[in-house]
Amino acid sequence: MENKKINISEIKVIQAPLAGISDCIFRNLIRKYKSKCLMTTEMISSEMLCNNPDARIVQYDEIQYPLAFQLVGHKIDKMTKSAKILAPYASMIDINCGCPVKKVVVSGDGSAMMKTPKLACDILKSIKDNVDLPVSVKFRLGFTSKEENYIEFAKALEEAGADFVTLHARTRSQMYSGQSDWSKIKLLQKELKIPVFANGDIKTLEDAKKCLDMTNAQGVSIGRGIMGDFSLPYRIEKYLNENIYTAEPDLSLKIEMLKEHLRLEVLNMGEKNGVKFMRKFYPHYISSLKNASKYRSVLVSLEYEKEIIEVLDEILSLHS
Ligand SMILES: Cc1cc2nc3c(=O)[nH]c(=O)nc-3n(C[C@H](O)[C@H](O)[C@H](O)COP(=O)(O)O)c2cc1C
Repeated sequence: MENKKINISEIKVIQAPLAGISDCIFRNLIRKYKSKCLMTTEMISSEMLCNNPDARIVQYDEIQYPLAFQLVGHKIDKMTKSAKILAPYASMIDINCGCPVKKVVVSGDGSAMMKTPKLACDILKSIKDNVDLPVSVKFRLGFTSKEENYIEFAKALEEAGADFVTLHARTRSQMYSGQSDWSKIKLLQKELKIPVFANGDIKTLEDAKKCLDMTNAQGVSIGRGIMGDFSLPYRIEKYLNENIYTAEPDLSLKIEMLKEHLRLEVLNMGEKNGVKFMRKFYPHYISSLKNASKYRSVLVSLEYEKEIIEVLDEILSLHS
């Protein structure tokens, strides 16, 4: 598996981890639309992985390389054991110190790790000592605005051996409200020698360029913007690397993407679960429609793939 090796200095675009969204099929579709970005799995609980090393969340495909497996947890032994389980398949390991969700932070995981920087560094060091792979860390500005410690946190991680960091420039208390404060990514970039990747609210080619011009980060990490447009990472790469602007896919291409996404999820999970899983994606695929909410309500009420395809064909015939 030579192709699993990663050259960090060449990475400009990272597909950000999205739990419940960026599964194996999602990542394969990004590659189908030609991006060479660094892919990231959804966060994988180290507690869960140690009990069930074959869990579905670990599914991957070789075309996804370079591929980071993201781990969440706060126990040195379990995080290290998990990294060892994943090492044969991973291009690198990413440690989640940014997840704001209550059920994650109550156990001291995700963004709660920003309150225990020494523990975060010890986990990083232990993974690096036991696994011959690059290790990165993704985090936020801090737990609350009064506890913003992203610079000290990142410096400690750099000292502990982190290969790069990704900053989602919101605090944990903000969850997803407000805006990612890119000016703080710029401050962090100035303080570190290792590469910094900018995350939060990068949804267009212009956003990516503006963010990099402003922050001097090595690259961008894109999450929600990819929902409903698998070509976004490729279009951003083309724009950043070659200054070539590729327009957003039109409705007919988006519906083609949606149909394929649905077909593959149904194939993978079965019709009942696949159809249910896809409900969160419809608003993103059909956002350009004036009457998107009407169609969204119809689509989420359907239970069979065939019925969904019929509605999508009707949308296409009425809008193209
Ligand atoms: C539904 C959802 C799931 C997410 N899951 C993860 C995750 O598993 N690991 C992680 O580090 N961040 C996760 N995030 C945060 C994103 O990776 C990213 O930091 C955030 O959405 C901001 O970037 P964006 O504006 O490009 O989406 C998640 C965000 C959302 C909305």
